[in-house]
Amino acid sequence: MKKLAIMGAMQEEIEPLLAYFENVKVTEFAKNKYYEVNYRGLDIVIAYSKIGKVFASLTASTLIEKFGCDTLLFSGVAGAINPELKIGDLIIADKLCQHDLDITAFGHPHGFVPEGAVFVETSSQLREVAKEAANENGLKVIEGTIATGDQFVHSSERKDFIESTFKADALEMEGASVAVVCDALNVPFFILRAISDSADMDAGFDFDEFLKSSAKESAEYLIKIVDKLI
Ligand code: ADE
Repeated sequence: MKKLAIMGAMQEEIEPLLAYFENVKVTEFAKNKYYEVNYRGLDIVIAYSKIGKVFASLTASTLIEKFGCDTLLFSGVAGAINPELKIGDLIIADKLCQHDLDITAFGHPHGFVPEGAVFVETSSQLREVAKEAANENGLKVIEGTIATGDQFVHSSERKDFIESTFKADALEMEGASVAVVCDALNVPFFILRAISDSADMDAGFDFDEFLKSSAKESAEYLIKIVDKLI
């Protein structure tokens, strides 16, 4: 690994990282800010994309193609589907899908377009390092499927559809698009999330209440993983 990218979607998701690292150099590009640091000899570029798959794809592509990052770690919050996941709990994706990608009218399965795949897998090596870091620090982390879509899910109908169609454990709005970019560009990556809500009718309220604390849980764990990667 020569240069590491760390991505979030919202300012709150990268704020704890920017507070942790020193001597941050800011570069503006494509209506976004990129924060460059050197941490224990490793060059790291940090950015938040803004919410949703399009902005996340742009930022992931920029981190890789413009800044030359060769590994990408995503940190942020998600809505829980798996009832074992409570607010503040950690999930690392083994694979991701786009729950709102739908050309079923032409006989294709949900989440599939020709020459693509329903699921994109994350790097098993990075997941192993993440699991070691969790064990060493007494953290519980679930490995599972994350479903991504350009919708804040706050109803049991939509949640049930995503659960039954993709067997997903959690949902959010960026991971699978980052996965598609990293997979296409051959960059090992993982998607880490801490639960902020349960994607039910209380989700909007819970999200506002727990965004900051859950984003911090995810970011603090991510720093432990980075320490192991160096
Ligand atoms: N990220 C966190 N909670 C979410 C939800 N309920 N829907 C979509 N993205 C989320």
